[in-house]
Amino acid sequence: MKPIQTILCIGAGYVGGPTMVVMADRCPEYRFLVTDINADRLRAWQSGNPPIYEPGLQEILARVLNRNLFFTPDADTAIEEADLIFVSVNTPTKTFGQGAGMAADLQYWEKTARQIKARARTPKIVVEKSTVPVRTAEAMERILNTGGGPRIEVLSNPEFLAEGTAIRDLLEPDRVLIGGPETPNGREAMEALATIYAHWVPRERILTMDVWSSELAKLAANAFLAQRISSINALTGLCEATGADITRVAQAVGLDRRIGPRFLEAGVGFGGSCFQKDVLNLVYLCEAQGFPEAAHYWRQVVVMNLEQRRRFVRQIVSRLFNTLVDKRIALFGFAFKPDTGDTRESPAIAICRQLVEERAQVVVTDPQALPNAQRDLADLGTAVLFEPDPYRAAEGAHAIALVTAWSEYRRLDYRRIFERMVQPAFLFDGRNALDHRRLFEIGFNVCPTGKAALLHS
Ligand code: UDX
Ligand code: ADP
Repeated sequence: MKPIQTILCIGAGYVGGPTMVVMADRCPEYRFLVTDINADRLRAWQSGNPPIYEPGLQEILARVLNRNLFFTPDADTAIEEADLIFVSVNTPTKTFGQGAGMAADLQYWEKTARQIKARARTPKIVVEKSTVPVRTAEAMERILNTGGGPRIEVLSNPEFLAEGTAIRDLLEPDRVLIGGPETPNGREAMEALATIYAHWVPRERILTMDVWSSELAKLAANAFLAQRISSINALTGLCEATGADITRVAQAVGLDRRIGPRFLEAGVGFGGSCFQKDVLNLVYLCEAQGFPEAAHYWRQVVVMNLEQRRRFVRQIVSRLFNTLVDKRIALFGFAFKPDTGDTRESPAIAICRQLVEERAQVVVTDPQALPNAQRDLADLGTAVLFEPDPYRAAEGAHAIALVTAWSEYRRLDYRRIFERMVQPAFLFDGRNALDHRRLFEIGFNVCPTGKAALLHS
């Protein structure tokens, strides 16, 4: 196999874009190409204004753009030129046919594989970066290597970056996972990929293993993280009913070094493009392989997560005297978490819809996610308003429902907000992000998650 000079990434989304920017920065001797079927996305990247919001991304992009990183719509030429190809196209949950609502939709992946097959004139390494069901690499390998043509090695290299901290996660990963075949060619390909990462990641953090373990490890890591969130959330109702405080419970549990403190923040539950999709993917695999109890076990992680949103809305209805008709509710935050404009699977979507079903007038505010929010809720018409300024969003509102813990929401002048709200004013803190005692002293009726409400009689 010839030494690697040109690296291509197919798919310029949340994973592919930042990953290539960081790699290009750390590996100046390689040429990086990025392509996508979405021409607008490519133009945005190429203009230096990435189509996604990620702290620190734009600065690094400015260093590498047109130096050794290029965005091109010409996928065919890029495939011909590339020695190594990352595939990071989307693999959403299937919405049709067998496994609808659970299995991963692999149509984009397969189209990409066939395109690579059609254009490859020299041996290449193809790396699956998108999260895919176990054994996808095997299917890709067959598509790519059936019917002659140059040899193509398929590796799995799942991405563990989280949105909002993508740059830090890429620069200082806990581990880099490379799965590949136990053959001389496979080992050579794994070593070539490991050499790229070794430009900035210590060798002991680069793990190599068989492809299937690598694919499953990615699903398992996300399922474990999602399960922690559902586990802490499964205690919030109990805390509210008994007067226990979920923050203290989480602190006490997390101090056990075997458990650890992270991912124990209770609230309206997880969103984002990965957790639900990956857990359901695991459920589907367990079912398909004949392990219904294991499937049921993992499914409950998602069931609990959806219940947490419903419980939040039920609490709003019951505290607001059992009717929301024509009441103005200001929704603070719409992104699935702070520091991103991404709203995929955001709990805010379901919460908004349920509030509108109760005939509330919802006003959504968010520092980054309003364009996506408008798209997500387009069918709801004037039942939902969008307001970039949180002060104006809360004006005349009966309640504030905080759904995303943006740090700016901690710094607002809540006295000013309180004075312009309908009384009695309520604040539902779906992320336990605010100073509840202080809000209560200002005059709010405060309803946190998993702890006693602070109510003025
Ligand atoms: C996740 C994984 O962390 C990452 O490793 C993987 O590659 C992709 O999926 P991401 O979806 O970007 O990353 O965000 P993450 O920070 O994990 O948060 C996911 C959701 O869980 C958010 O909605 C967040 O608000 C919620 N969450 C997180 C909680 O509700 N409580 C917590 O304690 C932590
Ligand atoms: P992720 O979070 O996994 O990065 P995104 O949806 O943000 O997912 O990005 C996936 C990208 O892949 C999108 O920009 C989409 O346009 C692109 N894509 C999907 N199919 C193809 C394809 N066949 N060729 C090139 N790009 C593709």
